[in-house]
Amino acid sequence: MSKEQVGTYTITILPGDGIGPEVTEQAVRVLQAVASRYGHTFNMTWALVGLSAIEAEGAAISDATMQLCQRSDAILFGAIGDPPRGAGLNSNLQPAKALLRLRKELELFANLRPVRPFQALLNTSSIKAEVLQGTDLLVVRELTGGLYYGKPSEIRETPQGDEAIDTLLYTEAEIERIVRTAFALAKDRRKKVTSVDKANVLSSSRLWRRTAERIAADYPDVTLEHLLVDSCAMHLIRHPASFDVIVTENMFGDILSDEASMLAGSLGMLPSASFGTRRTAYGLFGLYEPIHGSAPDIAGQRKANPIAAILSAAMLLRYSFGLKEEAAVVEAAVERVIDAGYRTEDLREAGKEIISTQEIGRLIAEAI
Ligand code: IPM
Ligand code: MN
Repeated sequence: MSKEQVGTYTITILPGDGIGPEVTEQAVRVLQAVASRYGHTFNMTWALVGLSAIEAEGAAISDATMQLCQRSDAILFGAIGDPPRGAGLNSNLQPAKALLRLRKELELFANLRPVRPFQALLNTSSIKAEVLQGTDLLVVRELTGGLYYGKPSEIRETPQGDEAIDTLLYTEAEIERIVRTAFALAKDRRKKVTSVDKANVLSSSRLWRRTAERIAADYPDVTLEHLLVDSCAMHLIRHPASFDVIVTENMFGDILSDEASMLAGSLGMLPSASFGTRRTAYGLFGLYEPIHGSAPDIAGQRKANPIAAILSAAMLLRYSFGLKEEAAVVEAAVERVIDAGYRTEDLREAGKEIISTQEIGRLIAEAI
């Protein structure tokens, strides 16, 4: 590492739409608290994505913003909005295209979504505390293949009326790299991989299962189990503590991770990190985002929970910058504020104080 690199890190900040800017602002505040406590310089550059970018720049993400992301060590992403009213059915002006383009062009094929409920929040979940006890799982979602990218994908006219098609395609190489990622992560955890598919119906799932079996032979100390996605959805709320690493294709991972977020009390609690193989001077190049959406119904009302964004920033420190202590300090600060009884609206619980997005962000930053 050259001298001038020491302690200098570049981050592209993409707040996006809806509650994205409010929660990202709190994550940035926390990063600034880390920078001043540890003497780091985080060079942050802001850019537009989603609806705001469509309105101002004519695309959900501009080429210039893509280049900015390419040049940085990490990306902190907020949330993306719904398509504008009246957008054509096959319109390219879909805000979500920004996220899909970032994932694809930056080759961020592995999306990690850890679910480890805070002890103090066990009673805010809609699931019984005794069921949640001991839950510590990691969803490893494939992020650049499957239904999200398969071609054709369109609505088209036929003499019999309109029809629509999406395509679920996976190559063996795509399955192999994500399954290997899951096994490598499981090795440092409780050594169990649950591969989730729909092999009783889908060809892509049968290839998935066969590939997972083949890779498992390289990791004799890790146990592999297969679950059908419907059954996995049920087991996640029946006995969540039985899971360690869950690996699955793009769409199943999207759905199961929203379900799993309720184990942590709220969709507003779950961070995520997306990686490919590219490295920075300090770790892995990555994109970090809360798993929740833009929640336009509560945008600007100071109600949104910024913790998923703040915990995403902690993952950024750990994985892209190699700042393990700093990441742990952020996570501990979040836990301390929760333990002290502060909650945002989504975590409402009798006897606890409901505070705003900005106030909880400030308390967490101060706890650093
Ligand atoms: C997520 C989101 C995205 C997805 C949307 C906004 C495209 O739901 O990150 O989970 O489906 O991947
Ligand atoms: Mn999702």
